[in-house]
Amino acid sequence: MTTPTTHSPYDATQFRHVLGHIPTSVAIVTAMPHGRPVGVTVGSFSSVSLDPPLVNFFIDRSSRTWPRLNESSTFAVNVLGADHAELCRAFSRRGADRFEGVAWKPSDAGNPVLEDATVTLDCSHYKIDTLGDHIQVVGRVDSMRLRTGELPLVFYRGGFVDFGAA
Ligand SMILES: Cc1cc2nc3c(=O)[nH]c(=O)nc-3n(C[C@H](O)[C@H](O)[C@H](O)COP(=O)(O)O)c2cc1C
Repeated sequence: MTTPTTHSPYDATQFRHVLGHIPTSVAIVTAMPHGRPVGVTVGSFSSVSLDPPLVNFFIDRSSRTWPRLNESSTFAVNVLGADHAELCRAFSRRGADRFEGVAWKPSDAGNPVLEDATVTLDCSHYKIDTLGDHIQVVGRVDSMRLRTGELPLVFYRGGFVDFGAA
């Protein structure tokens, strides 16, 4: 039996702590502005609409990757499987070549498709909005790629869910 506690969302530390108890998928958003691959890890990816086919993610306004991603009018969302926590870490590290040693190839639209992703969605910018300290990026899905048979990578309470221990 667990005892619920009530916190105020105006306490940023508590807000972050409480939100950390909500599991998220892990995706690498990629693009190829001016022929150079860029990518960043996001836990904020979700589907938005079936008709038209829309998805979205949220990027911090202080992100250094976002201005470069935004130089392209298309992007790819590469959703990771349980065995690819290292890709998650690599694409959230600053000051490193995030693509070093990563297997990828360009999609038809030119966006980096990570070989190890379970789902890749090639998208065109549909709507970009600033909401609080984040930017909401809505994309229209142009094509999809699916690799079945792998459990998802799930981020929860600052770490990854270990399905083996379940
Ligand atoms: C599991 C996980 C989920 C993340 N989700 C987001 C996210 O949804 N939005 C975001 O802006 N940054 C997110 N980050 C942080 C970014 O990956 C990155 O570290 C940060 O944006 C700094 O790099 P940048 O300046 O290149 O953007 C996440 C990091 C991790 C490890």
